[in-house]
Amino acid sequence: MSSQPAARPPLDPARLSVPDGWRAEVVEAAGSTNALVAERARAGEEPGLVLVTEHQTAGRGRLDRVWETPARSSLTFSVLVRPEVPPERWPWLPLLAGYAVHAALADRLPDVALKWPNDVLVDTETGEGLGRKVAGILVERVEAPGGPVAVIGIGINVSQTVDELPVALATSVTLETGEPVDRTQLLGQVLGSLHGLQGLLDDVDSLRVAYADVCATLGRTVDVHLPGGEVRRGEALDLDASGALVVSAGDGTFTVAAGDVVHVRPTP
Ligand code: BTN
Repeated sequence: MSSQPAARPPLDPARLSVPDGWRAEVVEAAGSTNALVAERARAGEEPGLVLVTEHQTAGRGRLDRVWETPARSSLTFSVLVRPEVPPERWPWLPLLAGYAVHAALADRLPDVALKWPNDVLVDTETGEGLGRKVAGILVERVEAPGGPVAVIGIGINVSQTVDELPVALATSVTLETGEPVDRTQLLGQVLGSLHGLQGLLDDVDSLRVAYADVCATLGRTVDVHLPGGEVRRGEALDLDASGALVVSAGDGTFTVAAGDVVHVRPTP
C-alpha cells in the first residue's frame, strides 16, 4: 500500500492526558527531542518533562542511526526521569520503556512483541518471523546538576505509508490496522503506561518475567552485532540479572549488554 497519507491533524495539547507530576510541551519542529531534553537536563530542568515534536528532523536512533519522520506522521517524544534505584538497576530502564510501549500498543496491535532490548515489532510469529518495526526507543543517561537522569526517547510510526518508511522491515500502526489513529489519545496512553510501570524498576524480578513474556527474541536463533563489529550467532536463552541477553553458542554462552540483535530466519 503506497497511497497518499490520510489527513494528519496536529496533536491537541488540551486533550492530552499527562500523568500527575509530569508536564508536556509540544513543539512544531525539532532536530532531536532527546538532544533537546538532555540539554535542558544539563541546564537544571527537573525530571518530569515530556517534550514532543510534530516533526523530528535529526532524530537519534540506537547505534548512531537516524530517526526522521514526516511531519505529524508519528509520535516522537522524550521523557526526562530520575530513577530512584541503585545504579545496577539502571540497565533495566530501556527494557522497561520497551515493555511500557508494548503494553500501550497491545490493544491496537494484538501481535506486537519486543526484540531485545526494546524494538517494538509486529508479526514476529508468522512467515519468516522477522517482524516489522513499529516503534523504537533510545534511552540516554545525562549527568545533570542534581545527579544522573535518564532521557527516554520514543518514536512510534503512526500513519506512515510504505513509501514513507525508511526500510522494508518497518511499519506503522495505520498500515497494520487500516484504521486512523488519534495521536493525542495514543500519546496519553503511552505516557500513562510508562508512568504507571515505573515501579517495576523496584522489582526487577517481576519486570524480568513480564518482559520475557512479550519478548520474541528469547528462544530464537540470533545474530548479535557487537559494538566492535564482530557478529556472533547463537540461541537467545534468557536475561541475566542486569537485563543483558544470555546467548548460547557452540562454544558456551555469552551475554550481550549492548549490541544489535537480528532474528535469524528459522531453518526449514
Ligand atoms: C531506535 O534506533 O530504534 C531508537 C529510535 C528512537 C527514536 C526516538 S524519536 C524521539 C526521541 N528523540 C530522538 O532523537 N530519538 C528518540
